[in-house]
Amino acid sequence: MIVAITREVSPSIARCELTHLTRHEIDVEVARSQHLQYEKILMDMGCHLRRLPPEPNLPDSVFVEDTAIVLDELALVTRPGATSRREETRGVAEVLREYRTIFHIVSPGTLDGGDVLQIGRTLYVGKTGRTNESGVDQLMELVSPYKYKVETVEVEGCLHLKSAVTLVGENTLLINKSWVDPKRFGSREYIDIDPMEPYAANALLVGDQLVYPASFPKTLRRLESKGLSVRVVDVSELQKAEGAVTCCSLIFEKSLPINIELDA
Ligand code: GLY
Repeated sequence: MIVAITREVSPSIARCELTHLTRHEIDVEVARSQHLQYEKILMDMGCHLRRLPPEPNLPDSVFVEDTAIVLDELALVTRPGATSRREETRGVAEVLREYRTIFHIVSPGTLDGGDVLQIGRTLYVGKTGRTNESGVDQLMELVSPYKYKVETVEVEGCLHLKSAVTLVGENTLLINKSWVDPKRFGSREYIDIDPMEPYAANALLVGDQLVYPASFPKTLRRLESKGLSVRVVDVSELQKAEGAVTCCSLIFEKSLPINIELDA
């Protein structure tokens, strides 16, 4: 069974962190209804939804992806790079404890889940304002015994690594090459975003289906022309908060037979 952790939109989302965007008014009711639609799509796709209650004093708390990295073997609760987001991890950790052994990034490390792109047993980690060297070192130390490789990647012009590149198929990446260098990811198939849609590289892959924002129709056509199965959702109000479709959930298999031999 696939579990999707989400959190309801905070009534204070208008006070969210913004790094690369200009602040525009956010309609909380519209944001809530878009988020509900997003959750409905996840349930239609077969996910078991674990919805956390809203956090009135944590404006960015709908973006649960940044609070944890969930692997088959363990969950790592992050220490988000934005100080205003540090408290978001607590509620998520409580739910994750039901599914995985929990570890934590500790000070001075910072790591945002949006900076970690898992492809098989490689974790690509964006070097951004949200993730620092200590955060990467702690991640590496934790996962290396489970035979994961950690590779850092330069990112420019956007908030997180997954603003610039996401996995849309087993070996296929959707990418904005102005923000991240495709050579960092080895020999794979690449789908370029339409240049008129710089924020279009964030797609959420669940099984073999994609959840994708309605606001990038040109890039959507590129995905569909490759035969990819896409569920489109309007997340325009959440995008004003510098959020995207991967940010709004933590998706993982409920439990898996663990058969990994630890390094001595
Ligand atoms: N507003 C999303 C973030 O900055 O983390």
